[in-house]
Amino acid sequence: MNISKVGVLGAGTMGAGIAQVAAQAGHRVVLVDVNKDALEKAQNNFQTIFSRLVEKGKMTNEQMIETSNKISYSSSFDSFSSCGIVIEAIIEKIEVKHVVFAQLEKIVSDDCILASNTSSLSIASIGSVLKCPNRIIGIHFFNPAPLMPLVEIIPAVQTSEATLNYSKALIDSWGKITVLTKDTPGFIVNRVARPFYGEALRIYEEGIADFATIDWAMTSIGGFKMGPFTLMDYIGNDINYAVTESVFTAFYYDPRFKPSFTQKRHSEAGFYGRKSGRGYYDYTEGVEMPKPNEDLIVAQQIFDRIIAMLINEAFDALFMNVATREDIDLAMTKGVNYPKGLLQWADDLGLDNVLSKLEDLFSEYGEDRYRPNPLLKRMAREKHSFTV
Ligand SMILES: NC(=O)c1ccc[n+]([C@@H]2O[C@H](COP(=O)([O-])OP(=O)(O)OC[C@H]3O[C@@H](n4cnc5c(N)ncnc54)[C@H](O)[C@@H]3O)[C@@H](O)[C@H]2O)c1
Repeated sequence: MNISKVGVLGAGTMGAGIAQVAAQAGHRVVLVDVNKDALEKAQNNFQTIFSRLVEKGKMTNEQMIETSNKISYSSSFDSFSSCGIVIEAIIEKIEVKHVVFAQLEKIVSDDCILASNTSSLSIASIGSVLKCPNRIIGIHFFNPAPLMPLVEIIPAVQTSEATLNYSKALIDSWGKITVLTKDTPGFIVNRVARPFYGEALRIYEEGIADFATIDWAMTSIGGFKMGPFTLMDYIGNDINYAVTESVFTAFYYDPRFKPSFTQKRHSEAGFYGRKSGRGYYDYTEGVEMPKPNEDLIVAQQIFDRIIAMLINEAFDALFMNVATREDIDLAMTKGVNYPKGLLQWADDLGLDNVLSKLEDLFSEYGEDRYRPNPLLKRMAREKHSFTV
């Protein structure tokens, strides 16, 4: 790789994390933000993080100094002129990204790769403002970037083979696990994970169980580290709702992705979750968490319904060639810590069983949301599985 200097635009949560990863991988990094306070905050945070790594014996004092010295800070785009790649991690607004990418291209060298860390916007659209659009690519890290191993690599229709190969090799060399995904809404993770939240909310809205019971069903039977409501409170209901709404809109209002009024109202009320002290749960000190109803029959029904919907979505991503079978499973285990890949899970549960759960839901509700994926139907009918 001849990329020695990496540019990162945006010194917020993601930009700072990406800059840290690149510096720890040995690159010189320039971190640019229009907001000087954001740059200062990022610099102070690096000091705290690196000192903690030294305390834990994961970094020597010399490495700390060396890594810190690799990162420079600037509020001018001109600082990107000698970079081999610039990764953008600013506000999630297409009109702002368009302006910024057009400006960036005027400053960087002809062969500099321009990447976006967008979670939900079209890479093709971001690249449309470039004179040399074959240099655009999506490089999607997960939060916190230094800790989460997964990175989705998203070539747009304009992206050249060279841009794709360089970008993938670069991120691989940073010790990350890369998966290749089509430039479609939500890429792999933010598409396939939607039913974990959406179906849990639907079950709650139908009055089948409360938040604590649904969470308990998914952690105790499914082995998920967090239940859907605990996780939504952790991510923030404002953020999680916005992603759902954007995926729903981008999929031309496919009912599979329909957002929930419960989450919308929680978000509107400022019940964002942990960060605001209240979400589905009350995080005020001294307030006890509600206890689940530990009825195993109800819990099994909840788990069966949510896992069937998740598996259906994973099948759809495979059916529509969004990614390979291996990458779809890797994405969910390494990007959102699922205990098992969903296609592997489908095999373990038996494709017949998953299909029959979906067919029951479809016949009960008559809603398009529950339609079983054609690939799942075909594989179940032909008695195929992924492992045999
Ligand atoms: N937060 C996440 O969990 C997460 C995960 C993956 C991807 N993303 C994506 O990463 C991007 C950044 O998200 P974030 O959570 O780090 O945001 P953030 O709000 O923490 O940080 C954004 C930073 O960009 C700066 N900025 C805004 N406009 C700018 C401009 N025109 N020029 C230079 N700097 C500018 C802001 O000052 C701010 O410091 C978004 O596209 C988001 O969708 C976020």
